[in-house]
Amino acid sequence: MSEPILPQRFAETIRNLRQEHVLRFWPHLGRDQRAQLLCDLEAVPFAELPGLVDAYVLKRPEAVRHGDLAPAEVLSPSGPESATRNAAAWQCGVEAIRAGRVCAFTVAGGQGTRLGFDGPKGAYPISAVRNATLFQLFAESLRGVGRRWGHTPVWYIMTSPTNHADTERFFRAHGMFGLEPNAVRFFQQGQMPAFMPDGRIALADRHRLALSPDGHGGSLRALAASGALRDMQQRGIDIISYFQVDNPLVQTIDPLFVGFHIQRASEISSKAVRKASDTEKVGNFCMADGRLCVIEYSDMPESIARERNTDGSRRFDAGSIAIHLLNRDFVERLVAPGSNVRMPWHRADKRSPILVGDGDAARIESSDIVKLEMFIFDAIPLARNAMVTYVDRAEEFSPVKNAGGVDSPATTRRDLVRRAARWLDAAGCSVPRKPDGEPAATIEISPAFALDAADLRERLPQCPNIREGDRVVLE
Ligand code: UTP
Repeated sequence: MSEPILPQRFAETIRNLRQEHVLRFWPHLGRDQRAQLLCDLEAVPFAELPGLVDAYVLKRPEAVRHGDLAPAEVLSPSGPESATRNAAAWQCGVEAIRAGRVCAFTVAGGQGTRLGFDGPKGAYPISAVRNATLFQLFAESLRGVGRRWGHTPVWYIMTSPTNHADTERFFRAHGMFGLEPNAVRFFQQGQMPAFMPDGRIALADRHRLALSPDGHGGSLRALAASGALRDMQQRGIDIISYFQVDNPLVQTIDPLFVGFHIQRASEISSKAVRKASDTEKVGNFCMADGRLCVIEYSDMPESIARERNTDGSRRFDAGSIAIHLLNRDFVERLVAPGSNVRMPWHRADKRSPILVGDGDAARIESSDIVKLEMFIFDAIPLARNAMVTYVDRAEEFSPVKNAGGVDSPATTRRDLVRRAARWLDAAGCSVPRKPDGEPAATIEISPAFALDAADLRERLPQCPNIREGDRVVLE
């Protein structure tokens, strides 16, 4: 292998942007280390750098102001005259799914720091009886869609450079969870360098930039850069069903939601739940400048989050659960090279170990850094006819975020069991209960067996006999 050469274009650009410090160890690096540093430098969006550093690192984006926001109009599927409207939307969604127009898209590139699991988060065992992993449950859900509607959707999975190889290996080791290998596509998301507060790129080592994934919003450009959008086009897919890797209650492909999305000619549609508290850690659906948008909980001033309507109800009550439908051609338009619309970056101030000092005195030290990420919901105000609909939290949302406490494996498992018990109740089966109303048996329903309560009712030949303390699996 020949000695890696620092391309002239890098050297000049880096000098012009006053980022020469990233090359200060170059003369002392070995061949492999130089190759690694060059590879890291490829991830840096040098053309955008001056504007980016100026707007997001040296300055802080303006805080959201009172009066700028109004509550979003949220569709309510259980509202008046909903039955006829829902039936038509459901039919429309089913036709699109049958025709292969809808794919599933999981963003799984996050670092999962809070959960602290050693491996891709999707490999976390979560189901109550079988200990099926998050990835397995999504795969079973897609197989369930195939069983019910005659077409198994293609599944795109976005990973990061850190977990890509492990994710692919995990799927191979499990026989792709019964899916056609050609119908599961993996691709990696982009990365962004972290910055020191003075605007210089931070180093993780003498030959490494401090890079991290560019946020779930980076998924849109990664869909383009990886060729996934082209692949979708060739397969006749025009609607992308987006969900996160941490919510096993998600309906990977929801006919009713797809139907609303198509009927309303929406370019991006979202699901919301009524917030559990004023300051719950979910994004807030709002209207700003006449456009639907989401304000992240950390950006929402508490005084606004606590506002009340005259009847005492919460004024900003629609929380985002990160489930969206996006039109492929909308994403194409957004990320086209000449596009005049851009998703903003979000700044996160962290303390992190980075390389400081020069020469022999260089050492890794915990320091202030600025990380930049894009958020998927910033695409919403850029779309035509963006719409949002309420769903029932207990049916569709219980993410695994933390190792313990709220949004942890324990609460997600509990919610999966509660839902399974409710579906059995709805099918007319009896489920033993504890005095506090909690199921007195551990029940698991594989999404391959039933996708919702109505599906379960049709699929159950007879009610299972469930006694207190039983562990029951319907698969
Ligand atoms: P979170 O915001 O919960 O972050 O991601 P995380 O990285 O998984 O966990 P913490 O904050 O480090 O504990 C929400 C969803 O977005 C994906 C995650 O994989 C998860 O599905 N994500 C997040 C990406 O795919 N890429 C990113 O850069 C960030």
